[in-house]
Amino acid sequence: SYRLSSPVKLTPVTEHDLAHFSKFLQPSSIISTLSPNPSSQDELAPYNSDWMGRYKGHSTTVLKPKTTQEVSEILKWCNAKRIGVVPQGGNTGLVGGSVPVNDEIVLSLSNLNKVRSFDPVSGILVADAGCILESLTDYVAPHNHIMPIDLGAKGSCQIGGNVATNAGGLRLLRYGSLHGTVLGLEVVLPDGTILDQLTTLRKDNTGYDLKQLFIGAEGTLGVITAVSILTPPAPQASNNVILALPSFDNVLPLYQTVKRHLSEILSAFEFIDRTAYDLAVKHGQGRALSEDDVEGAECFVLVETSGGRREHDEEKLSDLLELLLSADKPLVNTGVLSQSPAQFSSIWALREGVTEAVSKEGKAYKYDISVPLSSFKEVVDNTREHLRSKGLLHDKAVKFVLGYGHVGDGNLHLNVCADAYLPEIQDALEPYIYEVVSKYRGSISAEHGIGAMKTHALPYSKSATSIELMKKIKHIFDPQGIMNPGKVLE
Ligand code: FAD
Ligand code: MLT
Ligand code: ZN
Repeated sequence: SYRLSSPVKLTPVTEHDLAHFSKFLQPSSIISTLSPNPSSQDELAPYNSDWMGRYKGHSTTVLKPKTTQEVSEILKWCNAKRIGVVPQGGNTGLVGGSVPVNDEIVLSLSNLNKVRSFDPVSGILVADAGCILESLTDYVAPHNHIMPIDLGAKGSCQIGGNVATNAGGLRLLRYGSLHGTVLGLEVVLPDGTILDQLTTLRKDNTGYDLKQLFIGAEGTLGVITAVSILTPPAPQASNNVILALPSFDNVLPLYQTVKRHLSEILSAFEFIDRTAYDLAVKHGQGRALSEDDVEGAECFVLVETSGGRREHDEEKLSDLLELLLSADKPLVNTGVLSQSPAQFSSIWALREGVTEAVSKEGKAYKYDISVPLSSFKEVVDNTREHLRSKGLLHDKAVKFVLGYGHVGDGNLHLNVCADAYLPEIQDALEPYIYEVVSKYRGSISAEHGIGAMKTHALPYSKSATSIELMKKIKHIFDPQGIMNPGKVLE
């Protein structure tokens, strides 16, 4: 059997290791309390804490290499010395995967941040892993291209982190997952070998497609140093509308109607329940709709279109609204169409800003699950009732239970917003939620990954045979167990 080496068997970094790193890294690429010129705990703190403030590491050393060769030298040394390494991108992950569980080295990719090439004919972009997603969007924009992925964390997350988590996001409905749009990767393996699979070919059926293993591996198999990705042409026109629904039961029929009516121009169909909407508004995410528009709304759906001709798309969208509102039993109470780029962004902010709003309100317990669309509301309501029955639904414990997510992808974000991270809330939520997911044969992690948060829960979504194969694959790539220990696999 291929048991993983536990993080405790790994070796802590020493001054001797730092002296070695200083031979090939610039002083500005090393942040360490062990240096001759020690850095402060304050400098290290952001690398040791995740976006939610839920997971804390105890790393003494952050290395920020500037080249693939430097990454290779670091890993070669760490592999020989059995020092644990945590690759860190923008540190926006939501499952505690990007911070150490103990005192592993943090290997930050933020200094690998150059675009290597862009072909405006094919739309293929080759970029260092540390490029921020939004800066890549800005880079391809003058060439009339967009990134095939977009998410609320775009201003901080890195393309390498997106690939490492196989992030889904707001454009998956239109452009598919990174398993399809990523064409090639450059990866440094744990022993320092540089695996150059940075192809720009659309088609390449020459045996096993090894790059797919690193997409969604969350840094447990190697460090991604560059990504080749297919960027689609920018749509000539994008519009959006936010629809207020009297009942969740209308979401499914609405989705069918919208798909039929908008067909090829539909590019997003996103859902927020009333609690999520109210929290977004309370915390200043987007402009609130009028009192009349929200009255009696149980939930909201954001529909986006992206197409080739503005008049054509606008006509289709207003025809759809008219159709919806004039029906005998309208599926929606009302719909607010964006009339300007500012309003377009503001409508998106109501949906994208929920994550930030929840974290401003309190501490978030995040469950990113795939369950049948028809069960979205039931899962949220039952979880709320479950917490109530345990006496945990009050101001000093759980404040809100809310649902939002990617309807088109069957992906519900069930969030429990609490006053603090408390063991009694944790015990009430798990395994309760994982058992619900398993009952539906769903996924315990639709798009955020396993990280440190869900290693114990993997069997709810993967068979024993699958997990055993994953362990064998891990052992082939990382026999010393240095890569992101304690993540994905226990
Ligand atoms: P990090 O958080 O730094 O790392 C994430 C994981 O990848 C870690 O395990 C880390 O070790 C590994 N990793 C990072 N870089 C590399 C690399 N170069 N090589 C190998 N391993 C690496 N996710 C979605 O799927 N859809 C969403 O819509 C979405 N929206 C979000 C909105 C907000 C506001 C926030 C805060 C997060 C959101 N996320 C979403 C979570 C998502 O996983 C991350 O935002 C993003 O993909 C992670 O990128 P990062 O650069 O921050 O990676
Ligand atoms: C989203 O869809 O908003 C993201 O996945 C982040 C989250 O789940 O909060
Ligand atoms: Zn999401």
